[in-house]
Amino acid sequence: MRHFWRLDARPKGHDYAASLTLVSEEISPPAEGEVLVEAHYLSMDPGVRVWMTAREDGYSPAIPLGTPMVGQFLGRVLESAHPGFSAGDLVRGFGHWATHSTVDPVAAGLTRLDEDVADIRDHFGVLGLNGWTALCGLVDVLGIKSGETVLVSAAAGATGSVACQIAKGRGCRVIGIAGSDAKCAWLTGKLGIDAAINYKNQNVAAELERLGGGIDAYFENVGGDLLDAVLPNMALYGRIGICGLIAGYTSDTGLPGPVRFDQILMKRLTIKGIFLPDFIAEGRDYYPELRAMYDAGKLAGDFDETVGIENVLKAFTRLMTGRNTGKVLVKIRDFSSR
Ligand SMILES: NC(=O)c1ccc[n+]([C@@H]2O[C@H](COP(=O)([O-])OP(=O)(O)OC[C@H]3O[C@@H](n4cnc5c(N)ncnc54)[C@H](OP(=O)(O)O)[C@@H]3O)[C@@H](O)[C@H]2O)c1
Repeated sequence: MRHFWRLDARPKGHDYAASLTLVSEEISPPAEGEVLVEAHYLSMDPGVRVWMTAREDGYSPAIPLGTPMVGQFLGRVLESAHPGFSAGDLVRGFGHWATHSTVDPVAAGLTRLDEDVADIRDHFGVLGLNGWTALCGLVDVLGIKSGETVLVSAAAGATGSVACQIAKGRGCRVIGIAGSDAKCAWLTGKLGIDAAINYKNQNVAAELERLGGGIDAYFENVGGDLLDAVLPNMALYGRIGICGLIAGYTSDTGLPGPVRFDQILMKRLTIKGIFLPDFIAEGRDYYPELRAMYDAGKLAGDFDETVGIENVLKAFTRLMTGRNTGKVLVKIRDFSSR
């Protein structure tokens, strides 16, 4: 049997239990060209919250009601009807919040994974699409250089924590913004960044000013009030990369523009969107550089792990309410190497 979460209604706020149902069905063999994967882990990603809304103006269409909830899996191929994959392959891709996903490898972005890693879960975090996004945003979109001041929001999360380490490794002065003193201590302690601001009990604008302002590059994951606090602290000709706007993901209408829009002119700022799939479509492969950092012990991650398909909504709520440090994932079944 396969167990999966079905989206039955558009959620209000973070009340996911009212909108998603855990369903069971018989597993069918894959059709010609498809691959059946049994999940070890599911990745929790904030972007899918936008696809749960009825928004028509997003980068992906809304998930139709009555269909399985979309999400990333890491698992083994159980059965393949595609020449590029064999039973037993360890793979990552986009399927469903499910114990098993049957996918078209191209549509799913199905990727065969290297099993020679210290922790297989790193293929979701520092070596996975969060790591790829961080490297893409900092290097290909923001073009950070040694000696610059780089600011990262949601800095203790899966993407932000990798961004902090990459920027630090490239000789930048790095400031992180996160939502608890413990997260800030982790950022300045374990990850070794230069300063961290707890936006829940500190005035972000005043703290950035106290730290000297002059932010050359801002890796934005949040939007809303945070972006307004940052804008007056940008350096002249500063660059902002909008990777995420999680402060607005529960909204059916998106986030309004920043109140301090005037700073774009006053500081002659450049603002660009960061969208990893565009770069993947162009053939960019961020794995070798991330893997080299990882092997050199320069890329550390943390995990916020929940166990069991029945607890997916709890894990997703933890992610969307900022209770995580590092990558949020759900363990579906134990991993064993071949
Ligand atoms: N553009 C792309 O290609 C791409 C790819 C992957 C991810 N992303 C984006 O990158 C961002 C981070 O994703 P992730 O997977 O790494 O998640 P994550 O950072 O591990 O978790 C989300 C974090 O956002 C923070 N946050 C700040 N303000 C928040 C608010 N108002 N509501 C909820 N959370 C808030 C929370 O921590 P604190 O409250 O402690 O800060 C929370 O831990 C998201 O915006 C995501 O959409 C974009």
